[in-house]
Amino acid sequence: MKALSRASAPAKVILFGEHFVVYDKLAIVMAIDRRVYVTVRPRSDDRIFIESEAISAPAELSKGDKLKPIYLIAESVLSSYGKRMGLNISIESSIPISVGLGSSAAVAVASAAAISNLLGEGLSKDEIFRLALEAEKVVHGNPSGIDPAVSTYGGLITYRRGEGAKRLNIERDLPIVVGNTCIERSTGDMISLVSRARRSYPDIIDRIMDAGEALARSAVKALEKGDMKALGDLMNINHALLCAIGVSNEAIDKLVAAARRAGALGAKLTGAGGGGCIIALSPPENTRRVAEAIANAGGESFITGMSLEGVRVEV
Ligand code: PMV
Repeated sequence: MKALSRASAPAKVILFGEHFVVYDKLAIVMAIDRRVYVTVRPRSDDRIFIESEAISAPAELSKGDKLKPIYLIAESVLSSYGKRMGLNISIESSIPISVGLGSSAAVAVASAAAISNLLGEGLSKDEIFRLALEAEKVVHGNPSGIDPAVSTYGGLITYRRGEGAKRLNIERDLPIVVGNTCIERSTGDMISLVSRARRSYPDIIDRIMDAGEALARSAVKALEKGDMKALGDLMNINHALLCAIGVSNEAIDKLVAAARRAGALGAKLTGAGGGGCIIALSPPENTRRVAEAIANAGGESFITGMSLEGVRVEV
């Protein structure tokens, strides 16, 4: 057995279809160039020890419920190879936590890859995805699987719950500016909020979800044609639909408005909402201006691009 194994996995932004994807609608998601690194070492006892001090928000990640999926992943990988042993798992990340960028899925995916590599076994990407999805269910209750899918496979993908991930091969990069309200929230709580709205107003919410499906299909066409103007328009409509189901708030809307004023082609919240991040699609020459406008409106911003690579064994 190796003395050490390390794997990494990317963060993501959902371009279209968050929440609607929980109800089997089409979504589009892109892996971005920020990664989580998980290093695993064998222990002489049979305890699993997770160290996450290196993560940008350690207090948050060390809450029991956030670490639970990693314990589950460790136990599942070990038991699937009939091993009983202890592990030291150390997590390093440049992905802000609990703001819709998929940090928990990236940690789960990278952990599965690192542990199986330590045992000298290579899990397939499909197996890594399935393990990470099972672990996510413990934290989010009813996740669609979109986060572990994009973190595992990387690139730009469409995702439907009943069908899984399909790679979209788009030649051009998509210059995306991320704006973080820095308000942490729970994905599970936001999924429950939408489920309550749907129970109260099924006819209305179901029609909004159908509009979300039509929107994602149009967005696939716009991406294939390279029609950035249409893509921006569709992002704006997507944001309005997310406002309608109740997952936006003042802090998010402020950053979306600032990005649009600064010349973004479109802007919307990304992920579960209730805080977290927005994304803005910007012409390449304008990304800095949009990032500055978001910062002036009180958000933390960074410019990002696509990561073609999903989960990766490092050593
Ligand atoms: O955890 P987040 O903020 O990236 O949200 C994931 C997207 C949702 O559609 C809200 C939930 C899901 O599992 O699809």
